[in-house]
Amino acid sequence: MSQKTRFVALLAAGALAVSMSACSGAPGGATAADCNVGITMPTRSLERWINDGEQLQAKLKEATCTVDLQYADDKVDQQISQIQNQIAGGAKILVIASIDGTALGPVLEEAAKQKIKVIAYDRLINKSPNVDYYATFDNYKVGTLQGTFLKEQLKLDSATTPINFEAFAGSPDDNNAKFFFSGAWDVLLPYVTKGTLVVPSGKAPKSNDEWTTIGIPGWKSDKSQAEMDNRLSSNYAGGKKVQAVLSPNDSLAIGIEASLKSAGYKVGTDWPMITGQDGDKANVKAILAGEQAMTVWKDTRKLGDRVFQMIQQISKGEKVEVNDEKTYNNGVKVVPSFLLEPEVVTKDLVQSKLIDSGFLKASDVGL
Ligand code: BGC
Repeated sequence: MSQKTRFVALLAAGALAVSMSACSGAPGGATAADCNVGITMPTRSLERWINDGEQLQAKLKEATCTVDLQYADDKVDQQISQIQNQIAGGAKILVIASIDGTALGPVLEEAAKQKIKVIAYDRLINKSPNVDYYATFDNYKVGTLQGTFLKEQLKLDSATTPINFEAFAGSPDDNNAKFFFSGAWDVLLPYVTKGTLVVPSGKAPKSNDEWTTIGIPGWKSDKSQAEMDNRLSSNYAGGKKVQAVLSPNDSLAIGIEASLKSAGYKVGTDWPMITGQDGDKANVKAILAGEQAMTVWKDTRKLGDRVFQMIQQISKGEKVEVNDEKTYNNGVKVVPSFLLEPEVVTKDLVQSKLIDSGFLKASDVGL
């Protein structure tokens, strides 16, 4: 080999090595530069968002993607500036679990100018054309599962005496909350109308559209606790007892359960049937202790896997797989979505669903 040929061969080998290292592990052979992802999550105050963010970050890092993961302490402005920083830092894909689904229009316009792809994570981003995909659990079904659980466990179709019932809804700025409530209320409202369910506080929306009247801002446990305190002290005098509570998620259920405890309710005697969502450790403990009847479990690892797959498909320039192109209209367009299936977990399913699958450790919940 002449010196010149050897030099060219060396150069070619070097170039190959560089391009291989750029590709190595990045999703499906896309270059690491294509796989530069900014993730923004709403808050660290709820277990699920910590798990969501960390799981997706770990998967992406394993695939040698560049990742920036931020939590915004439930503050909209903080989330906007985190997204701005990610855009300035060269992100090619943004994964956003929004705090206020309507507040991101302007920052997403900046993203669109840089040709950045945007995936709405768990919560839809509203009123913006610049949302490319949405990955979530079937939010309406979460509510249906809660409503149907109460209907069946309370035997509403055959109940002969009215049941005292209170309903709560999620944060008014979270698009999911409307779906959770609608799913549950489509099952339960007919029984309220018939008088099988009686709502002593009077806080029973006449239609799904009025759900924000009973929404708890920021999904805060202390706010649901204060609201339940008020309802109990104003409407449950003279030994009247609440027998069932629709709680849309676990953080609100924790507040409701604390309020019931301080009002003297006891498991096994007068404790009401309470729903939830997420499978948070504290709530799974409450389920085992008989304080919460169920949680709608969303295996967030599956959501992370799905979003990881979307990121792979985007980075490789492939068609992104979705399974719903009609449900999630964000006010500007229908956002192509991938919906995952939520499932009910009751006391007898904690071991088989949550522990055996590795979602929680037995020791996390005192087993
Ligand atoms: C999520 C729920 C969560 C709630 C509060 C919703 O958007 O879908 O899983 O409980 O936010 O963080």
